[in-house]
Amino acid sequence: MFFSFKVMTSRLLLLLCCWTALAKHRDGTEKNAPSFLVDYENDRFLLDGEPFRYISGSIHYFRIHPDQWLDRLKRVRALGFNAIQYYVPWNWHEVERGTFDFTGGRDFARFSRLAESLGMYTLLRMGPYSCGEWENGGLPYWLIANDKDIVQRTNDTRFTSEVSRWFSVLSTQIIPLLRRNGGPVLMVQIENEYGSYYACDHNYNNFLRDEAWRLLGKDTQLYTTDNFPADGSGEGYLKCGAVDGVFATVDFGPTIPQNVDKYFAIQRKFLPNGRGPLVNSEFYPGWLVLWGQREQQLPSDEAMIATAKAMWDKGASINFYMIYGGTNFGFWNGAETNAPVITSYDYSAPISENGDFTPVYMKIRNWIKSIPGWKNEPTNPPKSNEKKAYPTVSMQLMMPIMQMEKARKYASCSASTNPLSFEDLRWQFGYVLYYTKLKTCGTNLTIEKVHDFGYVRLSGKPQGRFVKNFWDKNTTTINLKGCQNGDTLEIIVENQGRQTYETINDFKVFLLSRNTKG
Ligand SMILES: *[C@@H]1O[C@H](CO)[C@@H](O)[C@H](O)[C@H]1NC(C)=O
Ligand SMILES: *[C@@H]1O[C@H](CO)[C@@H](O)[C@H](O)[C@H]1NC(C)=O
Ligand SMILES: *[C@@H]1O[C@H](CO)[C@@H](O)[C@H](O)[C@H]1NC(C)=O
Repeated sequence: MFFSFKVMTSRLLLLLCCWTALAKHRDGTEKNAPSFLVDYENDRFLLDGEPFRYISGSIHYFRIHPDQWLDRLKRVRALGFNAIQYYVPWNWHEVERGTFDFTGGRDFARFSRLAESLGMYTLLRMGPYSCGEWENGGLPYWLIANDKDIVQRTNDTRFTSEVSRWFSVLSTQIIPLLRRNGGPVLMVQIENEYGSYYACDHNYNNFLRDEAWRLLGKDTQLYTTDNFPADGSGEGYLKCGAVDGVFATVDFGPTIPQNVDKYFAIQRKFLPNGRGPLVNSEFYPGWLVLWGQREQQLPSDEAMIATAKAMWDKGASINFYMIYGGTNFGFWNGAETNAPVITSYDYSAPISENGDFTPVYMKIRNWIKSIPGWKNEPTNPPKSNEKKAYPTVSMQLMMPIMQMEKARKYASCSASTNPLSFEDLRWQFGYVLYYTKLKTCGTNLTIEKVHDFGYVRLSGKPQGRFVKNFWDKNTTTINLKGCQNGDTLEIIVENQGRQTYETINDFKVFLLSRNTKG
């Protein structure tokens, strides 16, 4: 009896399901099938067939301890945001060539699923280049270690063949997350601000588009983003960064209302028939900080909110870069032309590095609360995390880095007539100690190129520091005090992070000039 009743119930359910499916069909729209696309003619997005806009925030899983992912995402959700945006840095997932890691702090699928569980979609930036003030802009250091002359971010086959190999692995992680498959990923960005790169190689960004479509499926909504520098030269950047068939978006920070109009008008020039939804993919509430930087000027909260409102009133979707910045753990910070990026990536973001709310957080939340009909209403912000004093921390000596004879016990050494680069040594980060016994000794030691700093000791005594282009300062000559034939010369070379905005095959290196003696 019981058994047959169960069968009947499930038949009934089955019938009901068929009925709703039919209803959808008769309506002619298939409204609830998961999908996401740009409806160019009507200047809007369609999510599952319905008009859609987003207010999202950049938040980088690779800059947050995975135990804190949920906490930080809840703070983003409490603002009323309905999406997040992040890069997937290639070098974070393929640290050494052929070894892939998508677990723990690298499990971005889990990060997106957590966001989804709170009611936020994902805008995923697959690269291969990210920038993001991240080591080498997200490109693996082994690309230049394997081939010194490789021309990155162009259609150089030495580069594109590696990208194809990486994308074929990465795409298997992304596919289950795509909206079409019921997942939270709405759009996938290729490259990043490509128009700011000198190469302007359309063969290359067409190749990225075709690879992404081939691997993810042609119905995957792709996008690009290009920036507007303060001098207003944004249009030239879009000429190199926008890709046929790919939705072009723009980046700009708080500005006057006339510029909002101007920048979005330029975005539309790069959309089919000049139509399509407006998107600012990087709207800057704060900014990054470099080592040695003395001061920083940020826009006022009022200017920031005013620009956000102006964009919203024009019908735009907006991504705040960063809504939560986080931390460059380990040696993962990148470098700018002037100096490397500091360990903190707080970014003066509305949610501070330790998860606290700043005054501007509440202003953004209040603004979103006031938007009529906004579906993802702000929730109550979680309480600030408890602060505690650190107990006494006792330090232990691990290894005497400035005493070569002792350090050899801990590290491997290579002998070479000419100094080997970090890349030659397959040493991605940190420090390399170079040492030699001087047969003949001069007064001055001149080295053509030490990237980035080189700390000099002569038979154990500190002599000074080589500097390469730190806030435009260079030290290429060190005076050796009381140098005698047979002294030991030690130079510790420090890698402070590879260039992020500019892609320059940034070797970490110490090169002897031809006239260096001894
Ligand atoms: C790369 O692009 C250039 C034009 O910019 C073209 O001449 C060349 O054949 C392309 N190379 C490859 C490998 O596609
Ligand atoms: C060594 O360098 C100092 C400072 O750069 C310079 O004044 C001096 O003339 C140099 N000495 C020799 C012998 O080249
Ligand atoms: C320091 O070196 C960099 C890179 O070679 C160069 O661009 C810069 O002009 C130099 N600065 C000075 C003050 O000479």
